[in-house]
Amino acid sequence: DKAGYKHFMAKEIAQQPTVLAEALGAYLKGDEIVLPSPGLDFTEVDRLVLVACGTAYYACLTAKYWFEKLARIPVEVDIASEFRYREPPVTKGTVALFVSQSGETADTLAALRYCAGRADRIASVVNVETSTIARESDLALPIHAGVEVGVASTKAFTCQLNVLLLLAIKAAEARGRMAAAEKSELLAQLRALPGLFNAALDRDGAIAEAARKISEARDVLFLGRGMMYPLALEGALKLKEISYIHAEAYASGELKHGPIALIDKSVPVIVMAPRDGLFDKTVSNMQEVMARGGKVCLISDARGIEEAGDGIWQSIPLPDVDERLAPLLYALPAQLLAYHAAIAKGTDVDQPRNLAKSVTVE
Ligand code: M6R
Repeated sequence: DKAGYKHFMAKEIAQQPTVLAEALGAYLKGDEIVLPSPGLDFTEVDRLVLVACGTAYYACLTAKYWFEKLARIPVEVDIASEFRYREPPVTKGTVALFVSQSGETADTLAALRYCAGRADRIASVVNVETSTIARESDLALPIHAGVEVGVASTKAFTCQLNVLLLLAIKAAEARGRMAAAEKSELLAQLRALPGLFNAALDRDGAIAEAARKISEARDVLFLGRGMMYPLALEGALKLKEISYIHAEAYASGELKHGPIALIDKSVPVIVMAPRDGLFDKTVSNMQEVMARGGKVCLISDARGIEEAGDGIWQSIPLPDVDERLAPLLYALPAQLLAYHAAIAKGTDVDQPRNLAKSVTVE
């Protein structure tokens, strides 16, 4: 049931603070990150291969930044339908990790079966714990998002990110890359995240307002740098799926290598940029867009919006957040922008045309 919301998607977006807090409760015993049996010994991992489809693939792309930055583990990320047919070498010391909300996605399952017997361990991050992917894994990590009905994945994405981040922290600790105090501080920030989600949900009005204007466009561009790049991809996918507006995402630094040719006043450019170490670089990208008459919708924190200066078309202020956790929080405005754009266009939010919740055929 929709619990008073107009759509399952709205309900599932709003549930995020609650399910994220519950998931943390399930994985944390004090500051110890407890994995389900048989666990994973990260001291023996040489390489991680992350494979998934759609939104789950974008969760993997984000996790690559965490595993590399925090734990210094080499990570390869692939789309399941590409991975399986490429038949890539999977060497000893590799842990293959499959991310799937449903746990039944045909290509992801086929990729898992390809790795079984080749990789040292098969792990999965799933929402449906009784699913085929969970059953065929050596280690299945539940995301604890609860049932997700909306075809557009929302809470499953942030809950996937949550588990992947916990795994990266665990790996960093096991490999002597994160001291107890740093870990404790990061976990404290993670525990505070549901509160930030609630504060961000209060910005719904501003987001709806921006979405209404964006819904008039035929094409939209999303930009992000670092961990915000996968988020830009996710934002574009959400918008396409439910509002049918053509959207593309680029790493901000790629702008001048082609897509800047698209910029004019009819193409809104949504920039996801918390005030992190890369912010100044993103500001110069925004200036390039504005100098060509482009309309920038900036999603940042209050200081970021202030520092970006004049000329911004729309701004969506979010609470300050530790930059390592920004992908979780910034997923929320991406979801809400798509949601409100779809409402403005009158499309079927929970059952978009041509799409199925679970893709069990190739
Ligand atoms: O069940 P899965 O996580 O394996 O599904 C993967 C994709 O089909 C899924 O994320 C799809 O892209 C969603 N509709 C995105 O909103």
